[in-house]
Amino acid sequence: MNSKERQIIEGLKVVCTCKNIRQRDFLKHIKAGMTIVEELKKATGAGSGTCKGKGCTPRIAELLAAERKKRDS
Ligand code: FES
Repeated sequence: MNSKERQIIEGLKVVCTCKNIRQRDFLKHIKAGMTIVEELKKATGAGSGTCKGKGCTPRIAELLAAERKKRDS
């Protein structure tokens, strides 16, 4: 699997299971400059599902940290 294929598959991973919001939806906003979890939740609708963000908030924070690390390396 090449890096482009890996990127596509990673993008399909569901971050917010309540609202079925995928990683690629968050990455689009992160690449546009968003750096705060709450901004990402508002932009995507994540956190408004039945768990009220208990499931996805830590995953969004991890995604932000990973993207920040990639950007800074
Ligand atoms: S997993 Fe996102 S609101 Fe429940």
